[in-house]
Amino acid sequence: MTVPQPLPLVCLPTPLHPLPNLSQDFGLDLWIKRDDLTGFAFGGNKGRKLEYIMADVLASGATAVVTCGSAQSNFVRQVAGACARLGLRFAAAVMVLPYPDGDPRPPGPTETKGGNLLLNSLFGAEIHLFPDGGWSELDHASSEVVRKLEAQGERVYQIPLGGSSPLGAYAFYLAGKEVAEQAAPFDFVVTASSSGSTHTGLAAFFRGSGTKVIGISCDPEPDITEDLSHLSEGLAKITGDSKMEPNEFWFDLDSVGPGYGFASDSGTQALSIMALREAILLDPVYSAKAFDGLIRLAKNGTLGGRVLFWHTGGTPTLFAESRSVP
Ligand SMILES: Cc1ncc(COP(=O)(O)O)c(C=O)c1O
Repeated sequence: MTVPQPLPLVCLPTPLHPLPNLSQDFGLDLWIKRDDLTGFAFGGNKGRKLEYIMADVLASGATAVVTCGSAQSNFVRQVAGACARLGLRFAAAVMVLPYPDGDPRPPGPTETKGGNLLLNSLFGAEIHLFPDGGWSELDHASSEVVRKLEAQGERVYQIPLGGSSPLGAYAFYLAGKEVAEQAAPFDFVVTASSSGSTHTGLAAFFRGSGTKVIGISCDPEPDITEDLSHLSEGLAKITGDSKMEPNEFWFDLDSVGPGYGFASDSGTQALSIMALREAILLDPVYSAKAFDGLIRLAKNGTLGGRVLFWHTGGTPTLFAESRSVP
């Protein structure tokens, strides 16, 4: 597979620095990789992927881009920013996540006002909101949006959920290289993992080294390691390495909490600890759960030595507002 020349969207390398207070609290040499500070469309891990994916979009001659995600998707927001920058029409199908059965909580951070939705509108995105859908309905809705734009004469490029294509994983393979050039080797890298290309790219880069990559899952789906393996096959076509098997991924499902897109109690506590001890803000549904996993693994003795926490961004979700779906 040929890799397009990346578009310069984000400010690289992102900062890498120690966390002195938390290092003391947890008895680790703890560092943080600031992909929340990419300097592009409010930051986050998707900017790296988009440098390659948007280059592919331009090479395809597309006039419009369509993707999908949850109502507060950080990916949708960053694609919206990239399309604004490149003068492309952008539309996304986004769904309102149904609350888990019997969940008595009031609307929370997956909601449909403010946060990323506000930023999407500033970037001129066309957002099609689907109340209470599931992933397959969302897929269908996304194809409907593509058909609508094509009927209007657009040449549409459809980007998969979360930018988890081989090019997206390649961007994170290079992010691993970036860290290796910034600092002495880490014993562990801990990151949030959802659609999978962040985890896959980092795991592929550090494969066979002394650095173990732990993906803290934000989805209650153990089978995702099959997807990671599949993604690594596509990535291997770029890097020349071999595919990774599902059991090669360290995939931790113990911090998902009530489900995808919903804040967990221990994640919210982890978010507060990071804010109170280091004045760094996490997001409620990805990076807070990843940091919750890190704390758990530090407390049970799994983690030790030099540990890197990968801040994947998502902070606009802190400003999401309550549900107002008709
Ligand atoms: C803030 C944040 N962190 C982590 C992730 C997970 O990254 P990936 O989809 O590459 O697994 C996402 C995905 O949406 C995200 O928005």
